[in-house]
Parts: sequence; C-alpha cells; structure tokens
Amino acid sequence: MKIAIIGTGNVGSALAQRLVLAGHQVSFGVRDASSTKSQKASAIAGTTILSIEDASASAEVIIIATPPEAVLALASQLGDVKNKILIDTTNSVRTRPEPYATAYHALKEITKSGKIVKCFNSTCFENMANPIYPAFGGIDMFCAGDDKEAKALVQNLAKQIGFAECWDFGGDDKVELLEKFALSWINLAIMQGHGRNLAFKVIKRD
Ligand SMILES: NC(=O)c1ccc[n+]([C@@H]2O[C@H](COP(=O)([O-])OP(=O)(O)OC[C@H]3O[C@@H](n4cnc5c(N)ncnc54)[C@H](OP(=O)(O)O)[C@@H]3O)[C@@H](O)[C@H]2O)c1
Repeated sequence: MKIAIIGTGNVGSALAQRLVLAGHQVSFGVRDASSTKSQKASAIAGTTILSIEDASASAEVIIIATPPEAVLALASQLGDVKNKILIDTTNSVRTRPEPYATAYHALKEITKSGKIVKCFNSTCFENMANPIYPAFGGIDMFCAGDDKEAKALVQNLAKQIGFAECWDFGGDDKVELLEKFALSWINLAIMQGHGRNLAFKVIKRD
C-alpha cells in the first residue's frame, strides 16, 4: 500500500520504519527537504522524501504526525483527499488547532474527508518503533472515528506493524477520549515517573 507520512519526527520516523518492514511503500511529505529531521528521515531505508502535495497525491493512506496546530496550514496542501484514508496521530496536549478541539476535527472540517481515523496517538514513539514486550508479546493500539471501513484498514495496519490488537474506541465522539487516554499514558510514564517502557494491553476473561 502507498502510504504518505507528513512529519519526519519521532512518530513519523518510527511508523515509517515499521511500515516499510511490513512491505508498504512509504513517502514522507515535508515542507523543507533540507531540514535536519528530513535529512535524518531520508536515511530510513525504503522511504522517499517528497513535497507534502506530491506525497499526498501519490498515497492511498496519509498519516499526520505533526504538532496538532500544523494541520491548519497543511490540510489544504494535501489536495483532494476525499477518497484517501487520513490517520491522525496527534494529541492536543500543549497546543490545539484553534478553534477546533483536535487535529482530527480540524482535518474533518477542512478536508471534507469522511475517512479519518484517530490512531497511533496513545503510546510513545518508542513503543511504535518496537511494540513487542518479550514477556507479553505485542502491546495494544487503539483507534476512533466514524468510518468503520477506514478503521478496519487502520486496525489491520496496526497489527501488521506489530501491535497485538487495535481496539475500536468508538466513533468521532470518542476522539477526545482517545486523546485523554494518551494523556493517561503521559501521566503514568512521565508525570508519575514510571518511564517510557510502559504500555497498555487489554485483557478479557471468557
Ligand atoms: N512523541 C511521541 O512519543 C508521541 C506519541 C504519540 C503521539 N504523538 C503526537 O504525534 C505528533 C508528532 O510528534 P513527534 O514527537 O513526532 O514530533 P516531532 O518529533 O517534533 O516532529 C514533528 C514533525 O512535524 C513537522 N511539521 C511541523 N509543522 C509542520 C507543518 N506545518 N507542515 C508539515 N510538517 C510540519 C516537523 O517538520 P520540520 O522538520 O519541518 O519542523 C517534524 O517533522 C504530535 O502531535 C504528538 O502529540 C507523539
């Protein structure tokens, strides 16, 4: 599958490495190909560096891995994305794309795309680069959004890159809850000092 990643930082690079390993064609959409982050990302085997417009045009799936407020500027650069799946990995923790509550809501309104999925926001980039905890196997991922078909595809991508399960948190009305869930990880790992080698896994009794 052709996947564009907008953002060459921690999250974009971690997901790119895993997606290439899973056999996907990954391009980064960047605003400045000569930036330090772009240069570092260009070293990830199997990826290409393109403009945001070209990466978006050539992809079936577009992953947004930028600060949340960046979507206000970049949403229009994505072009016509009505038939593409957008994945929003952002968390409006420190900043948000005013007047929208989250980047998800901004993307939905500005791009008019219905195929947006919130995913890959609820754990750290280190866990995205390596979702395997030897004693437990793959950790879990979580997603939200109204489009069930788009969610099924993203759940499958999450499993392809090593997550054991990708739990459906619900529709658009659960997007902010999923960002709060990410805050719960930040609280435990950083504020309560348990460290970044920490992950969520759902267990169920038969
Ligand atoms: N870090 C984590 O563990 C983690 C976990 C879950 C979710 N998240 C969320 O994931 C998102 C990315 O986090 P990160 O840690 O990967 O950030 P990061 O390392 O700072 O990388 C951010 C990337 O966004 C790009 N960017 C910024 N504004 C842009 C714009 N207007 N157009 C295009 N690209 C732009 C930057 O490009 P330049 O090089 O040009 O500046 C950079 O490549 C954030 O929203 C964060 O809340 C992070």
